[in-house]
Amino acid sequence: MVLDSFGGPEVLHLAEIEKPVATPGNVVVQIAYASVNPADWKSREGWLARYFDYTFPFVVGFDAAGVVAEVGEGVTGLAVGDRVVTPGNQGIGERGSYAEYVRAAAERVIRLPDTIGFREAATLPTAGMTAWEATLDVGQAGAGKTVVVNGGAGGTGSFAIQLARMAGARVATTCSPRNFDYVTALGAECAIDYRQGDPYARIREWAPDGVDVVVDTVGQGTFVDVVDVMKRGGIVAPIGTLIADEPAIDPARAAAAGITVVPTISQFANQPRQLRALVEALAAGSIVAPEYTVMPLAEAGEAHRRVQEGHVRGKILLEVNAALEN
Ligand SMILES: NC(=O)c1ccc[n+]([C@@H]2O[C@H](COP(=O)([O-])OP(=O)(O)OC[C@H]3O[C@@H](n4cnc5c(N)ncnc54)[C@H](OP(=O)(O)O)[C@@H]3O)[C@@H](O)[C@H]2O)c1
Repeated sequence: MVLDSFGGPEVLHLAEIEKPVATPGNVVVQIAYASVNPADWKSREGWLARYFDYTFPFVVGFDAAGVVAEVGEGVTGLAVGDRVVTPGNQGIGERGSYAEYVRAAAERVIRLPDTIGFREAATLPTAGMTAWEATLDVGQAGAGKTVVVNGGAGGTGSFAIQLARMAGARVATTCSPRNFDYVTALGAECAIDYRQGDPYARIREWAPDGVDVVVDTVGQGTFVDVVDVMKRGGIVAPIGTLIADEPAIDPARAAAAGITVVPTISQFANQPRQLRALVEALAAGSIVAPEYTVMPLAEAGEAHRRVQEGHVRGKILLEVNAALEN
């Protein structure tokens, strides 16, 4: 699915382009499933153009699960035929994963045990690594801590809830009531309807001594008053949305309350460790894949419309080559 210019979902269309080749330090992955992230529609609209130059026709998409098809010079530990998952190279401006093949830096290509299917694996990279960054690396969620996830029903939120639980923390989360059962099954002990009543009052009831860690996956000014219900020494990890002029927590107010706010994005340097740990946690049953909906690759535009509306539960996967699973 390529785009010849930035624009709405309609710019995505099927086309034949040349297959990527494995350059030194990289492999080519033949893709079974890609997964859709909000960053993909933002990339489609040109929001990432400040980070790299786009060459059209471009292919969006970070996440891919599939099989190593070609190994570049200097790559060790990966071989043709290995089952793998990767966030690909779209983050450095190369063509992404809405395609039959993607090139990926070898250190960000993680082998999968046979017990993990390509569908589950494809949910992991962007949402899982970012949740790891925010919840564990920045937030330092750990035993006995209280963690609030703003937006627990989305891709990042589904992982943030589970990773906080895995670390021994207690979790509350915001979502709409239709997702209460979903977030509870992931381990949230308190699900808060963000549209009704005062969510902060509900958080205060749940954690009268204050909250230790907040992971904000929604942004857009929806959670800027959360400092009022946090403990001194608490940490807020607002995940970067790329939305311009978004209302943020007032730094003076956070400082006065003894709260540290750490704007958080996925970090290349941490991705290999985080993705490997996510694969291990999934294999061990410590986490499960978020709920997912599978759509054909050719419906990527429709998938973008749904993600852009902002209320997908879990993840949307694009099926590229289901036969690779066999
Ligand atoms: N910079 C980075 O490294 C990075 C990486 C990953 C993600 N992100 C950003 O993080 C954000 C979240 O990503 P994602 O993949 O988790 O998105 P997503 O899966 O599309 O999130 C959708 C979820 O958001 C929930 N939601 C919407 N409005 C809400 C509100 N006001 N309060 C609580 N929940 C709300 C919805 O739940 P309901 O239907 O229940 O409302 C829905 O389940 C995006 O802006 C994305 O671009 C940035």
